Amino acid sequence: MSESSRSLRRLLPCLEATFAPQIAADPQRWQQLTRRLQTHFPALFALYLDLYSARYDFFYHLQDLLFTLARAWFERPADLRALDKQREADPLWFQSHKMLGGVIYVDLFAGDLEGVRARIPYFQELGLTYLHLMPFFRMPRGENDGGYAVSDYRQVHPPLGTMEQLATLARDLRAAGISLVADLVFNHTSNEHPWAQAALTGDEDARELYFFFPDRTLPDQYERTLREIFPDEHPGAFSPLPAGDGSGAKPSGWVWTTFHSYQWDLNYANPDTFNRMAGEMLFLANQGVEIIRLDAVAFIWKQMGTNCENLPQAHTLIRAFNAAARIAAPALLFKSEAIVHPDEVARYIHPEECQLSYNPLLMALLWNSLATRKVRLLSQALASRFRIHLKTAWVNYVRCHDDIGWTFADEDAASLGVNGFDHRHFLNDFYRGRFPGSFARGLPFQENPKTGDCRISGACASLAGLEKALTEEGPTEVELAIRRILLIHGIILTVGGIPLLYLGDEIGTLNDYSYQSDPAKAADSRWVHRPRADWARYARRHDPHAIEGRVYNGLRQIIQLRKEHEVFSGHDLRVLETGNLHVLGYERRFEKHRALVFANFSEQEQTLTPNILIQLDACALNLIYGQAAISETGALTLPPVGFIVLA
Ligand code: GLC
Ligand code: GLC
Repeated sequence: MSESSRSLRRLLPCLEATFAPQIAADPQRWQQLTRRLQTHFPALFALYLDLYSARYDFFYHLQDLLFTLARAWFERPADLRALDKQREADPLWFQSHKMLGGVIYVDLFAGDLEGVRARIPYFQELGLTYLHLMPFFRMPRGENDGGYAVSDYRQVHPPLGTMEQLATLARDLRAAGISLVADLVFNHTSNEHPWAQAALTGDEDARELYFFFPDRTLPDQYERTLREIFPDEHPGAFSPLPAGDGSGAKPSGWVWTTFHSYQWDLNYANPDTFNRMAGEMLFLANQGVEIIRLDAVAFIWKQMGTNCENLPQAHTLIRAFNAAARIAAPALLFKSEAIVHPDEVARYIHPEECQLSYNPLLMALLWNSLATRKVRLLSQALASRFRIHLKTAWVNYVRCHDDIGWTFADEDAASLGVNGFDHRHFLNDFYRGRFPGSFARGLPFQENPKTGDCRISGACASLAGLEKALTEEGPTEVELAIRRILLIHGIILTVGGIPLLYLGDEIGTLNDYSYQSDPAKAADSRWVHRPRADWARYARRHDPHAIEGRVYNGLRQIIQLRKEHEVFSGHDLRVLETGNLHVLGYERRFEKHRALVFANFSEQEQTLTPNILIQLDACALNLIYGQAAISETGALTLPPVGFIVLA
């Protein structure tokens, strides 16, 4: 008998005794749990052993974890257990061409959770099947990194509503065909979280959940190999703790803070941290959250002498969380947020790890192609880095709440004769509007003079040229800017995977500079692209002459195209050699269906020679989206910044 079966055999009677009343009330549920444990405990056990076998109290923590799983399973509401069944019968549901994601801040989009509920008809009108609410958990007043500093995972931030309202919203969304997506901010808590507060008062168990250091000795050693993430806010990765005597003079020690000083990194070398967060995750799943966005996955394991990003144990931890979900909340899926080198991004994607992942490379390279008007890097990346496990999916986006980091691989760029460092420099200049011929109005984010590193903030429409065109130029430039917006959205809607819209972008929302006069936001330029929804502007979305209407209707057409054609399911993609530097081409297939997509990134008409369509055996296909001229010989001419689909 294997080690894991032996442990399970010993643990089951303890569970049975502890949960006797629940088992008596619902024996069938107990049977389901034991069946799930038989299937998934071996994996969980192996992962847990990998992480924690050196702990003298290994079995104590393992048992504690099983109690957490059992408790969550017994608390799981009937409708979610029905959902579990439905998802298990159709595990690849998220690959459907009907899928369309949207992301919003609760307060900025609709005031509070009730406000979001009232907007369900709008989400349906747009065609959403997936709604990500940015972090809505209790957070510090004032600075809180847009909610990514969580003070309590089980409480909604009071101005936004209550956990009961969240559960109701999840149910109503599901009834409307929309899955609720929420963050598990599991790399850190806010310094106001009760665990952090207890740690400050000297509670030993709580202190072990974080990384505290009495002086700079170890922090200095770690920092030799760490990257600075938010250098504007504090150098390095550690923050001083207030002096014990309250005088503010000498710090009483240091705490690990990868992001802001008020975001304290959790220590997963301690199994208690893992167990507690598994409990928080399952609590969230039991409120009706169907997809969990695992925030900042790259950073969750630290080891001296490394950069403490993407370490093997980070993967082991996520797999262990995933195994826990398979046992107690089977419908739950994970989406990874790893904005790192493309090789590292890919490593988080697996049916047993994160079934979904942001695609930061596609995002960055779409903007790169708009700036350079060339598609080489993008074509190369789609050809070599887009393929992932058949049972997973990319989440493709053009903008999100964060900055744009130019995370293409230097070696990919080098193979095309491009120097990565210089090229990033160019992109940063371009998107700050400093480069001749730039149409963009972006802002720098976390510019680091020590390394020359910089990222870009800005709303999609402003980065695509709409702001400049409206204020300084004329109708031709406005039209081009709108086409740019539609072109990059056209790609995320047809390339395969789940397209994710950053709401506001669908009506061409521009940069909002008002954050600069709010002291809690002024230091963080990402707020420029996090405006409050302007419902007067939304009201113009059906007006074909208004900017809002032109963007919205354009986008709605591509959404409809996606929803009507099964070929956009899955992620079977072949990049085409278009013989034109400015034109991206790819073929999509799904079952017996086939479509060809062409996108012209330049502001001039571009023609593909007849042999291209002939070689693709495409002459019999129909133009199902966009405008193009096909000559008698088969030469295909795309309009400036044109996007077309043949099927
Ligand atoms: C993620 C979030 C970002 C936040 C950081 C720290 O990267 O997307 O907004 O600042 O994590 O939680
Ligand atoms: C992510 C990224 C980091 C990014 C930050 C917030 O965790 O890894 O590079 O800048 O979030 O924007």
